[in-house]
Amino acid sequence: MKDFVAISECSTQELHDLLEASGSLKAFYKSGKRDLCLAGKTLAMLFEKPSLRTRISFQVAMTDLGGMPLYVKPEDIGGIGKREPVKDIARVLSRYVQGIMARTFEHKTVLELAEYADIPVINALTDWSHPCQAMADCLTIREHFGQVEGIKTAFIGDGNNVARSLAYAAGKLNMKLVVASPHGYELDDVTIQKANSFTPGCTAQVDDPYAAVADADVIYTDTWVSMGQENEKEKRIRDFKGFVVDMKLVQAAPKHAKIMHCLPAYRGYEITDEACESPNSIMFDQAENRLHFQRALLKQLLA
Ligand code: CP
Ligand code: NVA
Repeated sequence: MKDFVAISECSTQELHDLLEASGSLKAFYKSGKRDLCLAGKTLAMLFEKPSLRTRISFQVAMTDLGGMPLYVKPEDIGGIGKREPVKDIARVLSRYVQGIMARTFEHKTVLELAEYADIPVINALTDWSHPCQAMADCLTIREHFGQVEGIKTAFIGDGNNVARSLAYAAGKLNMKLVVASPHGYELDDVTIQKANSFTPGCTAQVDDPYAAVADADVIYTDTWVSMGQENEKEKRIRDFKGFVVDMKLVQAAPKHAKIMHCLPAYRGYEITDEACESPNSIMFDQAENRLHFQRALLKQLLA
């Protein structure tokens, strides 16, 4: 594996190995030990959008492994693909650093970086997908349920980048994903078919959140307004009415069902404060696991 751009491009074995490594490195670091396998290596981190979790967890993970993270704001380099072509950025950075991670609007920017860079490229979220998030989510599910296989997640809301990466994870790791969205915001058919080609029947789209959660192990949601969609905010808030993760929906799910959110959460919109604070919520375990997955990923790609 040279890059980590999409879960759909990884083998089931590679994904299981990454989860295994995340779990063991987590225990290793919690015991106070350190693995400085990336000493002398630098990761360039390019961001076109804001970030708390992804930026800080990659920065800490890189430092934990003895390496150096280099945060690059788009304005520092005159915009990605604006001052110079993306393919030139990829080739120049390949002469200086040992890895690139990028959070971009267009998915094709990350694909182009990967195509032209001689060094590993990591997708830190694009409009199309968020694979590092979905893998940290799988790690969290594995910790809470003992396994990922057969675990059913009901994703309530927008068929967005996070939902898409969860669908590929379901396909590759034999989980179940049911996405419940209002009309016009469904997960695209190509993604559903591709996920189902990895594990038949793993991913389905419905329009009723109550039907989705009825036998779910996990209730998952994400913002209705992703970064870059701010001008659609008012329309989206109207369209997503009835797709709120609130205690009424939580009570319609099995008692053991956990509540997940990739964060940031917009309380009062896609989820209520009560659902966020419920004892069933595991969203901060998810956020923590971003660090543990990132560490394993960096070690795998850069060591
Ligand atoms: N979940 C997530 O990617 O958060 P940030 O946007 O803060 O990185
Ligand atoms: N779907 C959200 C995820 C944020 C982590 C977005 O793209 O803004």
